[in-house]
Amino acid sequence: MRRIDDSPMQTNSGLSSRQRLSIFLTVALLMALSATLLISRPATVAHGQSSGCGSNPCPTDPGPRPLPADAGAFYSALTTNQNAITTRLTQIFTEVNFVAGGPLVKTVGLGPRFNSNSCNSCHAYPAVGGSSSPTNPLFGIYQLMGATNTMPYFITTNGPTMVARFPYLSDGVTPDGSVHQMFTISNRTDAPGCTQEVQPNFTQAQSTNDIIFRQVTPTYGVGLMELIPETSILANMNANLPLKATLGITGHPNQSDDGTIARFGWKAQHKSMITFSGEAYTVEEGVSDEAFPSENDETYPTCLPPFPVAPGTNKTKGVPDDRNDTGEAPKVGVNFPGDLERFSLFMRFLQPPTPVAPTTSTTNGLAVFNSVGCNLCHNVSFTSSPSSIAALSNQTATLYSDLLVHDMGPGLADNVTQGAASGDEFRTAPLWGIGQRQFFLHDARTNNIVTAIEDHYSLGNGIYPASEANAVITNFNNLPTTVGTDGNTQAQDLINFLRSL
Ligand code: HEC
Ligand code: HEC
Repeated sequence: MRRIDDSPMQTNSGLSSRQRLSIFLTVALLMALSATLLISRPATVAHGQSSGCGSNPCPTDPGPRPLPADAGAFYSALTTNQNAITTRLTQIFTEVNFVAGGPLVKTVGLGPRFNSNSCNSCHAYPAVGGSSSPTNPLFGIYQLMGATNTMPYFITTNGPTMVARFPYLSDGVTPDGSVHQMFTISNRTDAPGCTQEVQPNFTQAQSTNDIIFRQVTPTYGVGLMELIPETSILANMNANLPLKATLGITGHPNQSDDGTIARFGWKAQHKSMITFSGEAYTVEEGVSDEAFPSENDETYPTCLPPFPVAPGTNKTKGVPDDRNDTGEAPKVGVNFPGDLERFSLFMRFLQPPTPVAPTTSTTNGLAVFNSVGCNLCHNVSFTSSPSSIAALSNQTATLYSDLLVHDMGPGLADNVTQGAASGDEFRTAPLWGIGQRQFFLHDARTNNIVTAIEDHYSLGNGIYPASEANAVITNFNNLPTTVGTDGNTQAQDLINFLRSL
């Protein structure tokens, strides 16, 4: 077999042109304005409601800061050798995978089931490694190479890139909670013989209210997050306890299999870049790998590797699809290490997003953030441990998260349990980079950052307790509505601060 491994990859042209972006921004602005008018939530006085903001303006979301991206750069402190591999690492993160038969050994293995064909298609905005792009890339992927997939109802051209989970099995009682991939490789020309795979019935799941969505979390700064000492996370958890008790804030870590604190994903369900990459490769792309060596659906042998392919082209050789080059040793140095290590190094080398220079309003906004109590969950910063990667060593990680999971009440609950995180518990979302984010909250339910704050508020029901954020959101809503010397209300300063991140 021809071995043309490790040369530059095809990439999805997922990102929008400047024109499409400006149309999007206009639409987003209109949506943001109408969403602001529609804010409503139970209890307490909210800005925008009857006794709301008096003659002063209610806080509004100025919208995402436009490109260029203030994220996606590698640390300037990388060593010469680390810098030398960044181009290669980027190629691996942006490579497009197909089933079999193409020119590159490394890129075969897509499916049987998949959500997309490259990390970068989902982790795309405002730069490679980020979150959902304003223009959904999945429309350019779902019917590639003759695939006969239909687009699920919840994916729209200018909507968020999301994946679906079914909280329960079809009996409606037994917990499921796993990702159900949107697409299959049936009828793709690079999957000869595979015709039987059928997409999940998402409309049926919708009718029985057994479907939830998760949008893409960004990966900037994750290297530092891996290195935050557990003692720091626990010390922060145990700080300010009387104040937290008054406000109803508790929170606890999620745990990984080794008993240490996990920290990645919407429920802090994963421990490390290696485990997240391993699961993402097989769950999102169907590429089985060193960490998760099984194909994601073994029902139809005709849809499993190896596939018959034309002579001189590449087929998968069996599981795992992911080609750890030690299987074909000796190899030239450029082929080491394996894909999971390369994804992980790529993400670890990405520095956190750069906030814009502070203004009077954003400086006030940070003070308001702390005074109303946002920081009791969105802990402003931690210091990373000493690391073998010097750029990551003893660094301040200004991530605005305590890395704990909190009860957020029935309003945000997704009924999915992951490790120690129950159906209404979520990791305090890190806020670095949200100034350029398009969609908010785990299911991307809003593109308005004011609505995202209001949606923290939720009374308890028979199943879930009230949101731990209720008292803080009430503080936010009770901020004085007078305009300060900077011309803004305190609430507006807070919003301006968030959009500066
Ligand atoms: C189909 C879209 C999609 C693709 C493709 C995808 N991801 Fe993700 N990624 C997500 C979603 C959705 C989440 C949030 C998952 C959750 O918590 O439920 C996520 C979260 C992550 C996180 C966690 C970041 C954090 O701080 O929470 C990492 C790391 C990650 N992905 C790495 C990868 C890598 C590496 C690849 C390629 C092998 C990849 N992803 C491919 C959608 C995708
Ligand atoms: C009790 C802990 C808690 C408090 C207090 C809290 N948050 Fe959050 N915040 C969270 C959690 C958990 C999430 C993720 C919820 C989800 O996605 O369902 C979140 C999400 C967010 C998001 C969306 C981030 C994203 O990636 O989509 C923003 C913005 C935000 N919070 C701002 C604030 C502000 C501003 C305050 C203070 C007014 C505040 N939060 C108070 C826990 C808290």
